[in-house]
Amino acid sequence: MSDLFKGRLAILGLGYIGLPTAVAIATRGIDVVGVDTNTARVEAVSRGEVPFIEPDLAVGVSGAVAMGRLTATTEIPEADAFIIAVPTPFNEDRTADLSSVRAAAERIAAKLRPGNIVVLESTSPPGTTEKVAGWIGDLRPDLRMPHDGDFGCDIYVAHCPERVLPGRIMIEIVTNDRVVGGLTQRCAEKAASIYRLFAQGEILLTDAASAEMAKLVENAYRDVNIAFANELSMIADALQIDVWEVIRLANRHPRVRILSPGPGVGGHCIPVDPWFIVSAAPELARLIRTAREVNDQRPYHVAEQVVLKAKRFRSPTIACLGLTFKANVDDVRESPAVEVVSLIADALPDTEILISDPFVDALPTKLSGYSNLRLESAYQAVERADIVVLLVEHEPFKAIRQNRLGGKVVYDTRGAWR
Ligand SMILES: NC(=O)c1ccc[n+]([C@@H]2O[C@H](COP(=O)([O-])OP(=O)(O)OC[C@H]3O[C@@H](n4cnc5c(N)ncnc54)[C@H](O)[C@@H]3O)[C@@H](O)[C@H]2O)c1
Repeated sequence: MSDLFKGRLAILGLGYIGLPTAVAIATRGIDVVGVDTNTARVEAVSRGEVPFIEPDLAVGVSGAVAMGRLTATTEIPEADAFIIAVPTPFNEDRTADLSSVRAAAERIAAKLRPGNIVVLESTSPPGTTEKVAGWIGDLRPDLRMPHDGDFGCDIYVAHCPERVLPGRIMIEIVTNDRVVGGLTQRCAEKAASIYRLFAQGEILLTDAASAEMAKLVENAYRDVNIAFANELSMIADALQIDVWEVIRLANRHPRVRILSPGPGVGGHCIPVDPWFIVSAAPELARLIRTAREVNDQRPYHVAEQVVLKAKRFRSPTIACLGLTFKANVDDVRESPAVEVVSLIADALPDTEILISDPFVDALPTKLSGYSNLRLESAYQAVERADIVVLLVEHEPFKAIRQNRLGGKVVYDTRGAWR
């Protein structure tokens, strides 16, 4: 078992993953420097503020900053360990865009000293951790990197993927089991010494490529299962069968656990990560690719159903409840609800569409150009609508009383009002 990490630690990327990780480590008495290229984000964290909503994070950041354990900067500091938690979106051809990871690795390179640890937390295709070591090695030929041989390597490089659930990040960052994959066994042990500071779950040591693949597989597994539910929903719509009733009955089988359909799959991870497997093995990843396609089609199907319902009215008002990519968070990135609303607005340019989301106070850029869209309170939106479409099962929406929906056409894409 490795010792606990001692020294100073820098985290590159103060987003949904980097900032909670910085807090988790800083509150264990380690000096943490958060580094971000976004000046506004650095200034917010320096004031002890959180630039996005995540339960319990604000108190953690303000406390860590007040204690002087967490600082933020745009410059790379000297440190004993560096964690890279920058975005890994995909390119137009759905291969991974590793430009932020590469930029982070290359910026770190200049500061590295023998004995330093570099951990890649960003979700990445197999082989990326090795590339990180390569990019650093190219800039610092004076340092012996892990691929030069385990004995006597100067820099320990590992991958430790993050699997927290937005909305529960501050709990899960501590309680989840962690996979730590080193380019060598010693690299994995060194990296694990950081996570042992705060992780209460088990720390599972492995090689870097297995750790990279395990993370992608977790999200592909979720995506395939969601696609199954979404496909069932479309089949049930065509056959005029209630999908929720079918799933409820099927799930009474002792070995069946079908997930809930929804308006699509959103967020930063599940719609993105499976493509990294597809691009690594395009001929073989047939089921994973199809699941992605089924889930990507889903907003079109939902929008189509709404348009069909609207055609029953001469001049309907439609309420769309929810814009975020999942319930009870403020994140609209890759949100299928946003996609559904824009498709309805395109198809029904003369129809008034009222949108409500308790976690969103301005229309996302994608929706800002439509003259027929307006943000409203849930009360007003439901009150005035002929058609109510539930896109995200936020708690306040679940609490809407059934009698307020009486006489309206209701399309509950999440099964929250059943
Ligand atoms: N959000 C999640 O729920 C989640 C869960 C598991 C894994 N991940 C993975 O974690 C990684 C980070 O995701 P996130 O949600 O925290 O992203 P984010 O967009 O919330 O934050 C990333 C931050 O990195 C900064 N950044 C970009 N390039 C930089 C650079 N070169 N140097 C320093 N800072 C830089 C950005 O300004 C931003 O503040 C991604 O690979 C993502 O797939 C995210």
